[in-house]
Parts: sequence; structure tokens; C-alpha cells
Amino acid sequence: MAVVGSAVGLGNIWRFPFLVGENGGAAFIIIYFALVLLVGIPLILSEFIIGRGGEGAPIRSMARLTPKRGTKGWRTIGYLSVLIGTMLLSFYFVVSGWVLKLLTDSISGGFEGMSPTEITQNFTTFKDSTWHSIAYSTAFVAICALIVSRGIKRGVERWNKILIPSLVGMLILLCLNSTTLSGWGEATDFLFSPDWSKVTVQTFIDALGQVFFTLSISMGVMITYGSYTKKSENMLSSKVLSSVIDTSVAIIAGVAIFPAVFTYGLEPSEGPELVFITIPNIFAQMPLGWPLAIAFFTMLSIAALTSAISLMELLVTTAMEQFNLTRRRANIAISIMMVALAALCASSSAIFNLFDSLTAKILMPLCGLITAIFVGWIFDRVRAKSIFTSDGMHSKRAYPITLFLIRFIAPVAISIIFLSGLGLI
Ligand code: PHE
Repeated sequence: MAVVGSAVGLGNIWRFPFLVGENGGAAFIIIYFALVLLVGIPLILSEFIIGRGGEGAPIRSMARLTPKRGTKGWRTIGYLSVLIGTMLLSFYFVVSGWVLKLLTDSISGGFEGMSPTEITQNFTTFKDSTWHSIAYSTAFVAICALIVSRGIKRGVERWNKILIPSLVGMLILLCLNSTTLSGWGEATDFLFSPDWSKVTVQTFIDALGQVFFTLSISMGVMITYGSYTKKSENMLSSKVLSSVIDTSVAIIAGVAIFPAVFTYGLEPSEGPELVFITIPNIFAQMPLGWPLAIAFFTMLSIAALTSAISLMELLVTTAMEQFNLTRRRANIAISIMMVALAALCASSSAIFNLFDSLTAKILMPLCGLITAIFVGWIFDRVRAKSIFTSDGMHSKRAYPITLFLIRFIAPVAISIIFLSGLGLI
């Protein structure tokens, strides 16, 4: 459940739809599916192997697994994960602040009676007034810091059990509502009949970045969770299941959102604002739109919260381990740093986009590549197998194919996409 909680978040409901919109729909979705299977799942499993083997947060786990001279270079995986996590969390807090803003908007009257232009204006005015954005992102960091400091992270994550099914239920309700909209036909064409002529190298780069983002790969979260799980747990089935759930949530979000995009005359390629402009439009027109908007944005805030605290906790633990700080001090230091970094992203969309592109297009694939090579080629093969199969208890037959994906397919796929992105092949 914790893995699903970290995976399901704004990546599914905010990031996936806008990338689908920018990359022309169905073809992007198909490429994305293929990359979840060929790169995403093998990499989650690799990180779990590292976490179970190293029994710690990313930097500590990697240090334990590479005690010999000559292997220390692989510790880059730990440092890179923490760097990626920090950058990602910086703009994640800004977007979480947007969710919080729409929650307060819905509480104070909802969007009833607002026209699409008014809704767009409402959101862009807010986004462009830097201080408002900073205030909301700071509020979000404060909530996270409070949860982490009280040590109630596990308690909050237990909410996932109720939260994720309710969020999915709500999205399904929105899908049903979307079937009645005039843009339904156009949207299903857009989402399900691929137009391969729109596919470029960029489509692959965006799809790969989204796989990392949405499955929480290359940010140390899966290594840390790997270190928490019982050695007997069947790693393969739980990870495949969580990837299936994560992908389904993204698709359902797409089906809920695109009919409204076409109905209300919005642009699919709007970019990061897409969902935040589209969803209020749905509630503005829908029966019971007001209470439903409050319910929806509450759930979305909690989904963002559970993802953000998983990363915040990891940074706090890392600061404690690396600088010998108490939990309280580490929490204060990380919170101040995050408030500052989030403010930076809120005040400049150039920095926001730079952090997003740098992590999704360069650092995460790079870290994934090194991780796959480390687990596939460097790490003790016998030990990897015994960790993966819980000493032969399960998934024995799946091991060779998983190993093949980790050793060959994932690194080759990432390298090809990476190098063509740089224009080298
Ligand atoms: N997978 C998360 C999502 O889709 C991204 C994330 C993971 C964000 C961990 C923060 C921490 O929203």
C-alpha cells in the first residue's frame, strides 16, 4: 500500500494528462505502456533488490553494498537519487500548492456559474502572482513537516487504503459524467486511435521521464521501501500490481479529463496548467459540482501529501544519517531548504521547467541506467536471486526473464532514448 501511495499522486492526475496532450494522445500512451513493462518494472525491482540488500536509505544502502575498493563509484546511485528527490520535491510542492488553492476555491463557493474563460483567468492570475503561489506551497511544506515531525507518517500512509479507492471512485464518476459531454467522441479518438505521424524522439523522452516520475523510480523511495519490507514478501507480484494500479489511475484520469478539454474549447497541449483549468470546468457544469469539487480536491491534496511525505521522510532520514543530526533538527533544516527551493520554482516558471526537465529527461534516466547496470552486472548474482525469490520461496521462474530485462533491455532502451535525445544517434 505504501508503494501504491507513493506512486499514485500528481504524476497520474496532473502530469500524465498534460504530457498526453502535448504529445498527441494515443501513440504516447502506447509507448508509455511499453516502457512501463520494459524499463519501469525491472527498475523498481532493481531498487528493491538494493534496498533489501543494503537495508537503508539510498546513500547508506549503496555504501553497504559497495564496501570494496573499486566499487565505490556505484555509490553515485545513492547521491544521485537524493539530488533527484530534492529537485523533484521542489516543484512538487508548488503543484501541491495549486491543488490546495483549488481546494480553498471550492470550499469558498466552488466554480458554479463560472465560464471557461473566467476559470482560466482565475487560475493564471493566481499562478502569476508569485506571493500567492509561495504562500500555498509553504503551507504545504509546513503540513508535511508537521506530519514528519510527529512521526505519524505511517499513520497518514494508512489513509491510502481509503484514499486511493475513493480517488479512483471519484475519477470513475467524472468519467461517467464525461461520457455525456459533447467532446466525448473527439476525446476517445484522441486517447485511443494512435496517430503515429506525431511521434518523434521527444515522445519517447517524455514517455520515459513519465515512467520514472509516476512509478517513483530513481528518487530513492523504492530503495527505502525495499529496506522496510519483510524478506519473505513476494516482491514481483506486489510491484507488478502497484504498477498496474498506477497506470490504470493515469488512464482513468485521462478519460475523465480529455472530453472536458474538447467540450470547453481548451487546448490539449496547454502544458502544466491543463488539469487545473479543466477540472474546475467539469465541476462548474456538473450537477452537485460544489460538494463534489470539495471532495475531489481534498482527496487530491491527500494523494499529493502521501507522495510528498514519502520523499520528505527520505530526505530527513538521509540528513540524519549523513550529518548526525537529530530528527528534529534534520526536519527543520530540510523544511527550510524545501520552502526556499519551492519558492524559487514558484517564482520562475523557467526554473520550474528546468527542474522538471532536468530530472525527468536527464537525471532520472541516467540514475536508472546506472542502477540497472549495477544490479544486472556488478551486484552478486547469487545474492540478487535469493533476495528476489525470498530464498527460493517464489517467482523462481520469473527470475531469468526479469534479470534479462534488467541486464539488457532496460539499459539498452534507456541508452537509445537518451542518446537520440542528445542528437547523438
Ligand atoms: N510518483 C509520484 C506521483 O506520481 C511522484 C512522487 C513520488 C512525488 C515520490 C513525490 C514523492 O505523483
